[in-house]
Amino acid sequence: MEELMTHKTIDESRQGEALTLPDRANGPGSKKFYIESYGCAMNFADSEVVASILQNEGFGSTTEPEVADLIFINTCSIREKAEQTVRKRLTTLKSYKRKNPGMLVGVLGCMAERLKTALLEEEKLVDIVVGPDAYRTLPQLISEAETGQKAVNVLLSREETYADISPIRLNSNAVTAFVSIMRGCNNMCSFCVVPFTRGRERSRDAYSVVKECEALFNEGYKEVTLLGQNVDSYHFIDEAGNKAISFANLLAMVADISPELRVRFSTSHPKDITDDVLFTIAKYENICNYIHLPVQSGSTRILSLMNRTYSREWYVAKVNRIREILPDCGLSTDMIVGFCTETEDDHQQSLSLMEYCQYDLAYMYFYSERPGTLAARRFEDDIPEEVKKKRLQQMVDLHRIHSLKSMQKDVGKTFKVLIEGVSKKNDGELFGRNDQNKVIVFPKENFQKGQYVNVKVERCTAGTLIGKVVW
Ligand code: SAM
Ligand code: SF4
Ligand code: F3S
Repeated sequence: MEELMTHKTIDESRQGEALTLPDRANGPGSKKFYIESYGCAMNFADSEVVASILQNEGFGSTTEPEVADLIFINTCSIREKAEQTVRKRLTTLKSYKRKNPGMLVGVLGCMAERLKTALLEEEKLVDIVVGPDAYRTLPQLISEAETGQKAVNVLLSREETYADISPIRLNSNAVTAFVSIMRGCNNMCSFCVVPFTRGRERSRDAYSVVKECEALFNEGYKEVTLLGQNVDSYHFIDEAGNKAISFANLLAMVADISPELRVRFSTSHPKDITDDVLFTIAKYENICNYIHLPVQSGSTRILSLMNRTYSREWYVAKVNRIREILPDCGLSTDMIVGFCTETEDDHQQSLSLMEYCQYDLAYMYFYSERPGTLAARRFEDDIPEEVKKKRLQQMVDLHRIHSLKSMQKDVGKTFKVLIEGVSKKNDGELFGRNDQNKVIVFPKENFQKGQYVNVKVERCTAGTLIGKVVW
């Protein structure tokens, strides 16, 4: 069944992207690794940690899987389709291994964690299986696999944050970067596999986050996105300073690096985002006015079955509060249709909530049962596929109207835009984003990526604002 969605932090076009290091990292005679990433931004950020660990061990990299000594696939388990994509990809890799029998194939990330050694049984070509908290042991696992044994480490940790590892920025535009601030998730949303694949929530040392962001800024980066499954529950105890650092504190610390460094973050959980966070966003010009606030459903009954711990009314009050404190804030969400027992009335409530919130962006999915989750154990996945499909299509159609309206509202306005690069569709144009995370394209003239410019919007499509630089 085809999955429908609009935007993503990591959009569909980047799924399966091969990551590469600059050539200088490829030492003479070094073994070469190839790494491909699937799933969310956290997985893409993890691949940069993996690259750093491998580079420190003297491995080089390649973007061509055919010539690699080691192939790593960093995988996602969030929906069944995500796993099917990886399995298809593994099938293609078989032909490379046939031509180059010495090649080792490793599965990393959430699917490795979910399936553990079963993956070795199911996918015979796989030599190495490594869960998200075990990347430091990759060099030993590779040595083990080189002797012909299968190598597995899927131990989850309560402490690992890779705080001391400087990720190697792969396929970077040298302007924007992801920075992980925490790992795991302590929420138990009944549909979600993440607590099982990523383990308990832990916050990374705040000073190591600031140091990494400072280093990025000094290298010329102009935007960092702080990443976690639930950033608002960030909580770091600074034992030396004898104080607790909250997410609002961390945002301020990163924003203080320089007014020229933009700060974004993802993802917020409606139950945890505080007024403190909203006031911190309001206070700093360089903290972007954009919040991704997944709701999942507009029906309180379904929200309760999902174990989201808030009601429709509670969520609406949160959105009202955001609009009160941050009137220009961009707002996006995640929605699931066809969750267990969802009635037509529940679905209508999701649509009416979308009507109320008028999201600028929405990522919409139909429910995909994940083995081992609370929902899989407790409830029947009882909504027929064609009903899920129909509801998803209705939701996508409704959201299209909202997103177009949101774009049209911006025509005639002028925004500060951080230039990210040359437009994919027209090399005479540049593109960047405004504070609210909307993509804006404009004529190139003599502008460079990494520069801030003011762009007056002249027209729009459903996904892009189009304008001209003004002074
Ligand atoms: N931590 C974030 C949160 O609390 O919203 C997002 C986590 S998940 C990586 C991204 C989105 O995938 C979720 O917000 C949810 O909409 C969707 N998702 C998770 N499990 C799903 C499932 N079993 N079926 C369909 N969509 C799912
Ligand atoms: Fe999954 Fe819920 Fe955690 Fe998000 S908050 S990762 S949806 S369990
Ligand atoms: Fe997928 Fe794991 Fe991210 S399941 S969405 S890669 S945390």
